[in-house]
Amino acid sequence: MKALVLAGGSGTRLRPFSHSMPKQLIPIANKPVLEYVLENIRELGVTEVGVIVGDRGPQIAAALGDGSRLGLRLTFIEQDAPRGLAHTVAIARDFLADDDFVMYLGDNMLPDGIRETAEQFAAHRPAAQLLVRKVADPSAYGVAELGPDGEVLRLVEKPARPRSDLALIGVYFFTPAIHEAVAAIGPSARGELEITDAVQWLVSSGAVVRAGEYGGYWKDTGSVADVLECNRKLLDDIVSGVAGEVDAASELRGPVIIGAGARVTGSRIEGPVIVGAGSVVENCHIGPHTAIGRDCVLRDTRIEYSITLDGATVTQVRGLRGSLIGRAATVDARAEGADHHCLVVGDHARIEVAA
Ligand code: TTP
Repeated sequence: MKALVLAGGSGTRLRPFSHSMPKQLIPIANKPVLEYVLENIRELGVTEVGVIVGDRGPQIAAALGDGSRLGLRLTFIEQDAPRGLAHTVAIARDFLADDDFVMYLGDNMLPDGIRETAEQFAAHRPAAQLLVRKVADPSAYGVAELGPDGEVLRLVEKPARPRSDLALIGVYFFTPAIHEAVAAIGPSARGELEITDAVQWLVSSGAVVRAGEYGGYWKDTGSVADVLECNRKLLDDIVSGVAGEVDAASELRGPVIIGAGARVTGSRIEGPVIVGAGSVVENCHIGPHTAIGRDCVLRDTRIEYSITLDGATVTQVRGLRGSLIGRAATVDARAEGADHHCLVVGDHARIEVAA
C-alpha cells in the first residue's frame, strides 16, 4: 500500500498566508499540519508517499526533506495548477502503479488517526473506502447517500439540495480500480476533475464502494477560524515541559511548554500554551489556547486563543484574541497620544480593530 498526500491547491480561504506559504505548513500547536498527516500515514505501516505540490513545492520539500526524519520515503509530484483531486490521482499514476493507496488531503487534521478505516479497507477491499461525517452545512462538501450496511449509493459534490447530511472528509482508500474511473470522467462545472465524480463512476459501474462514519476529531484547516479551533483542540492535550528560562516574577498555570532557549520574564502564562524555542516573552499575559512560534518577541502584550508564526513581534497590544499572525510580522502600538491606527496590510489580509 502507498499514500498520496495532496499539498497543492490554491488555499484562497487562507489568504494572505497562502500568498507566501503552502497552507499545509501552517503550524497547529507549533507543528505543521502536513507532519500530522504524514505521522498518521506512518502509523499504518505505509512508507512510500507521493506528495502532490503546486508552486509552493520548494517550501514543502525544504520542510520535509526526503521524509527519512519521519520514517518515510517521499516522492514529490508537481501539479501545474489546482485541477482537482482526481487530477492528482491521474498525475500520480506512475508513482502509484497498481498498488492500493490512501489519498489524504494535506490540510485535514485527524489527530485520532485512521487505523480503523485502514483495517476495514484491508478486510473487505472495496474499490473505495470513504470516511464521512455528519455536518450542519452539507452543501459545502461532497455528500454521500448510504445504504443500510454502509455501501455508497450516490455521491454528489457540493449539492444545492443535499439528500443526506454525510459529508466526505479528506481521507480515501482506493484499489487501482480508481484509475479507470479517473480516466473516464471529465471536468465539472467549476473546471476541476472531481474525486466524487470518479467514485460515483465506480458506483455506477457496479463496483463496491463503502463509507464509515468517522468517530474521532476531524478538522479541515482550510480557513483561519478552523486553524484556530484545531489549535485549541490540540493544545488541550499538551503536557507541560519547560526547557527555556522562566524568571521568579512569572507565573505559569495549567499545561505550558516553554521551548529551548526561550525567555519568559514578568509574565503570566495561562495554559494550555506553547512558547516556541528562542522566543522572548516580557511583561505579557498569554493564553489560554495560544501557540507562539519560534524566535518570536512579545512585550507588554495580552494575547489569547491565537497563533503567532515564527519570528513575529507583538508589542504593547493588550487585547489580541482569535488572531493568526504571520511569519516575521510586526504588531505594535503607536506612541502614546497618537490618535489614529497605522496599518501596513498585505493583499487579502483581514484586520479587525476594537472601535
Ligand atoms: P481544497 O481545500 O478543497 O482546495 P484549495 O486548496 O484550492 O483551497 P481553497 O478552497 O481555500 O481555495 O483542497 C483540499 C486539499 O487538496 C488541500 O490540501 C489542497 C489539495 N489540492 C491539491 O493538491 N490539488 C488540487 O488540484 C486541489 C483542488 C487541491
